[in-house]
Amino acid sequence: MPTDHRTAPIIPPKLHHATFVTLKLDEMVGWYGLVCGLQPVHYSEAAAWLTNDEANHRIALIAHPAITRPVNKSTSAGLHHTAFEYATFGQWLDNYVRLREHGITPFMCLDHGLTMSMYYADPEGNGVEIQFDCFGDWGASKEWMWASREFAENPIGE
Ligand SMILES: [Fe+2]
Repeated sequence: MPTDHRTAPIIPPKLHHATFVTLKLDEMVGWYGLVCGLQPVHYSEAAAWLTNDEANHRIALIAHPAITRPVNKSTSAGLHHTAFEYATFGQWLDNYVRLREHGITPFMCLDHGLTMSMYYADPEGNGVEIQFDCFGDWGASKEWMWASREFAENPIGE
C-alpha cells in the first residue's frame, strides 16, 4: 500500500557535518583539533574528515587545485559560522583561557540570551562559535526563543 503523504509523519534527518574547501588543509586540521578537539578519521593530501564525537565526521576539509582564494568573505552570502556547544559555563570559560594561551582569541563575544557565545575565525576566515546554553536545557532555551518578548525584541543580544 502506498504511503499516504497527507498523514505520514515527516521523519527529519539530523544535521551531521559541514564541509569546507580549503587552501590550508594542514593548518585547518591543526586549528580544528586545537579549538574544537576534532581529530581526523581519514586524512590525506587532498582531504580530511574530522570528528569530536561518535559520528564518523563532523567537519570535512577538501583541498583541490581548482580552489581559489575567497573574495570579501565577511560580506559574501553563504555560511557565516559553525557552532559547538559546551555543557557548562566553567568548561566554556576554561576553553577560552586554554585557547588564549595558544594565541587564539575570539573576534566577537555575545550574550545571546539563550547562549553565551564566543566567535573565532579559522585559518580560512570561517566563523566558529563556541557556546554554552544559558538555560542548560534545549527545551527551555527553545521555548524562550520561541515565546519570549525579550528574544523577539533583541534576537542578537549584547
Ligand atoms: Fe550561531
